[in-house]
Amino acid sequence: MKLFEEIIEDHKKQRILCNMLVDTSGETKKRKVIYEELKNELKVHADAEERYFYRPLFKFDETQDQARHSVAEHQDIDKLIEELDETDMSSPGWLATAKKLKHEVLHHLDEEEEDVFPMADKTLSESKMTDLAKDYRSMMNGR
Ligand SMILES: [Fe+2]
Ligand SMILES: [Fe+2]
Repeated sequence: MKLFEEIIEDHKKQRILCNMLVDTSGETKKRKVIYEELKNELKVHADAEERYFYRPLFKFDETQDQARHSVAEHQDIDKLIEELDETDMSSPGWLATAKKLKHEVLHHLDEEEEDVFPMADKTLSESKMTDLAKDYRSMMNGR
């Protein structure tokens, strides 16, 4: 399904950036660049997903709880990002929190792909998903 393919493409980027981030050390240019890129990816993706994936899933009894759970995870990820923003990048605590962020993000992506997509596939019509895929991609491209 096109919508899932579009989302998976962006999940791949996030997985790579998470792995690169925990490989960095200290307050380096590399760490700053990777962190900013990951932060931006996570933010735009979560916004686009909430609008063009979770919003329609909230309308069905079968998918409402899962949609709520996933959106709560987006908020948990946001909180970790806030924590990183407020922590001195050169401190050991920064990397510890970055590892927590990686763990949360990877868990979230796996859960979406393994649990949420099959549910959505049963609930949303083909034509609805085609429309959502277009809207999702144009929001991601227009950032
Ligand atoms: Fe998500
Ligand atoms: Fe996602």
